[in-house]
Amino acid sequence: MSTYLLAFIVCDFKYITSPMGSDNVLIRIWARRKAIEEGQGDYALRVTGPILKFYESYYNATYPLSKSDQIALPDFNAGAMENWGLVTYRETSLLYDPNISSNGNKERVLTIIAHELAHMWFGNLVTLRWWNDLWLNEGFASYVEYLGANYVEPTWNIKDTIILSDVHRVFAVDALNTSRPLSSKEDEINKPEEISQLFDSITYSKGASVLRMLSEFLTESVFSQGLSSYLNTFAYGNTIYTDLWEHLQQAVDDSNVSLPRSLNEIMNRWILQMGFPVVTIDTSAGELSQKHFLLDPESVVTRPSEFNYEWFIPITWMRTGLKQDPFWLLQKTAIHKPLTTAGDEWVLANVNVTGYYRVNYDIGNWERLLDQLLTDHQVIPVINRAQIVDDAFNLARSKMINITLALRTTEYLSHEREHMPWESAIDNLNYFFLMFDRSEVYGPMQAYFRKLVTPLFTYFREITSNWTQVPTDHNDQYNQVNAIWLACKTGVASCQELTKGWFRQWMQDPANNPIHPNLRTTVYCSAIAAGGVEEWDFGWEMFRNASIATEAFKLRYALACTKLTWLLKRYLDYTLDPNKIRKQDATSTIVYIGRNVVGQPLAWDFVREKWEYIFTQYGGSSFSFSNLISGVTKRFSTKFELKQLQQFMKDNEEVGFGSGTLALEQSISRTQANARWVAENKEPVLNWFLSHSG
Ligand SMILES: *[C@@H]1O[C@H](CO)[C@@H](O)[C@H](O)[C@H]1NC(C)=O
Ligand SMILES: *[C@@H]1O[C@H](CO)[C@@H](O)[C@H](O)[C@H]1NC(C)=O
Ligand SMILES: *[C@@H]1O[C@H](CO)[C@@H](O)[C@H](O)[C@H]1NC(C)=O
Ligand SMILES: *[C@@H]1O[C@H](CO)[C@@H](O)[C@H](O)[C@H]1NC(C)=O
Ligand SMILES: *[C@@H]1O[C@H](CO)[C@@H](O)[C@H](O)[C@H]1NC(C)=O
Ligand SMILES: *[C@@H]1O[C@H](CO)[C@@H](O)[C@H](O)[C@H]1NC(C)=O
Ligand SMILES: *[C@@H]1O[C@H](CO)[C@@H](O)[C@H](O)[C@H]1NC(C)=O
Ligand SMILES: [Zn+2]
Repeated sequence: MSTYLLAFIVCDFKYITSPMGSDNVLIRIWARRKAIEEGQGDYALRVTGPILKFYESYYNATYPLSKSDQIALPDFNAGAMENWGLVTYRETSLLYDPNISSNGNKERVLTIIAHELAHMWFGNLVTLRWWNDLWLNEGFASYVEYLGANYVEPTWNIKDTIILSDVHRVFAVDALNTSRPLSSKEDEINKPEEISQLFDSITYSKGASVLRMLSEFLTESVFSQGLSSYLNTFAYGNTIYTDLWEHLQQAVDDSNVSLPRSLNEIMNRWILQMGFPVVTIDTSAGELSQKHFLLDPESVVTRPSEFNYEWFIPITWMRTGLKQDPFWLLQKTAIHKPLTTAGDEWVLANVNVTGYYRVNYDIGNWERLLDQLLTDHQVIPVINRAQIVDDAFNLARSKMINITLALRTTEYLSHEREHMPWESAIDNLNYFFLMFDRSEVYGPMQAYFRKLVTPLFTYFREITSNWTQVPTDHNDQYNQVNAIWLACKTGVASCQELTKGWFRQWMQDPANNPIHPNLRTTVYCSAIAAGGVEEWDFGWEMFRNASIATEAFKLRYALACTKLTWLLKRYLDYTLDPNKIRKQDATSTIVYIGRNVVGQPLAWDFVREKWEYIFTQYGGSSFSFSNLISGVTKRFSTKFELKQLQQFMKDNEEVGFGSGTLALEQSISRTQANARWVAENKEPVLNWFLSHSG
């Protein structure tokens, strides 16, 4: 086995175990005594056996060890680490208390366990030869975690959430000219910080997205067949990624699946060149074309690609709601006559977003899609409703479509009740909030979103009997949070009364928290934002008293929501004192403060002033480092802010930026893109909101 997978732990923790199954694997969950006694390990124990069973069948290979220990550590930098047979977790990633944790906490526990256990085979039984292939190890586990989790909780539609959590997340990064290819050369990755820098969203989320696409076009049975052959051949050995391609190719050759090129040729274009394509479809003539999608169309790509930034793209599509035969786009442009439409017919490509690409259409087709959304949105699959919104906003950012067209994709949301489209819209709106919450666009923008979210807010009030119950569906539970978050944020009066009322009630009787665990993050934040020092100090005391990590997290996050400058400044100072804010949580706390419009300049000053300290204390090679830099500079959109960033880079040359180096470069190019975007869009956006907020 590889040395990095070895772990010993000496502790006085307690464990729970369940009777051994037919395969005699000993399963134990370890944690602080109190946490185990309170039953916080029960959910992890309940899901571990079934997840192992699922992978045994998916990989067609038995679990390689006689025991599986999983342990929750109170202070741990990463989310989890897949040591073979002794997986270590943050408490929030393993422990679940139904009385205190939200459904999101539960889902996180489930998917992280599914991720780590997937590594017991892929990564541990067979290990990549060197860290340059980390993307395959992590991308793989980040893809199959959804399959393992779905097996345990089949009613959650958990496989769909890869679109929000991975595909959309990484599209944002991979559309920059400073992105990087998935795969690196072995001799380029030598120092610890070069390895740490690889633990980013390209590795995890693009890796997962590209492997999902591969599994979809191969079919799941061919994919798992190749996988099983790979694992059985290389058990207890090391590999490079082409070993997997060979075994998958073999499985393809033994099957009915036909590919237009070898698997190696197809996949090289997705892993050896950075970025991804946008496919443009013209339905008047059935023409389609591809080009490298860049969020900032004026940015210059300096990194050469032997494939000229062209891809072999699997196209799935539907016409007016009916699924059509898939095909491949193998050139820069092509004609595919069936894509031609007549009358009110529309075309929708990349069904369920199984492909790692965006789609643009001729304006006529866009109009017909918008009509369909407004008349009967359910004809379009829910994943694609989320995608239309996300594609439109991003295409507008890259100037391929008009910004007003993107804004129009949100109008139908007044009829939308599903979680994914709302989440996708909110992700995109967050960009609008970031760019405009310091400008005159803010008022009309608030008015429009208040109008849009009010029906959703009312809907949830009704299905929860005036907020006394929880929606039964897992995804409705998430969307209830969105409804409250957006309604309170945009000033729906009855929302603010609701959250303030709940928080007051809790302040009067701290032993009995009346706020449902699902709603706590949002309600705490909204109440602390609307409140003063009394609310803040109460939140702080409850944070100090919280014995459950997830509860402490929610409070720590919400404390950054206050609008009072002096409280934010004091909170920033607390991050320097490990007795107040644990070291593992310091950088994320600074980022939360930076997200708040009032806290933004404070957090940025703080990071600049204390850079040397932060760098040495939190280690230039820690994973959270790149998040710190990109987090506090997210709102940057002026020439002045750009200058500050460049100055910051210069001033700290000596100290360095460690694993944040790439993030700093990305922040500079993002600031430039934001500045151009604001200059071009402020006026049309303001006018659109003014005419749609009534
Ligand atoms: C959770 O709540 C239930 C019912 O209210 C109670 O019986 C149980 O003891 C609680 N569990 C913990 C760990 O507090
Ligand atoms: C599973 O593995 C066994 C032997 O290792 C093999 O005979 C069988 O064909 C495999 N099944 C699948 C579906 O790959
Ligand atoms: C290949 O296709 C034929 C007919 O469509 C089917 O009978 C056969 O089972 C398929 N084989 C595999 C390996 O999927
Ligand atoms: C798309 O995903 C949904 C789940 O959201 C699923 O029910 C549907 O069958 C999928 N459609 C296709 C064509 O795969
Ligand atoms: C975008 O659309 C608006 C309204 O439809 C129009 O006034 C404006 O000229 C368009 N802008 C561009 C750049 O095409
Ligand atoms: C809902 O709750 C609010 C506040 O508790 C109360 O004022 C209102 O009358 C309730 N409405 C209904 C329909 O029960
Ligand atoms: C916090 O915990 C301390 C000691 O456990 C206790 O005395 C205090 O009352 C608690 N505060 C609140 C607000 O519950
Ligand atoms: Zn992993």
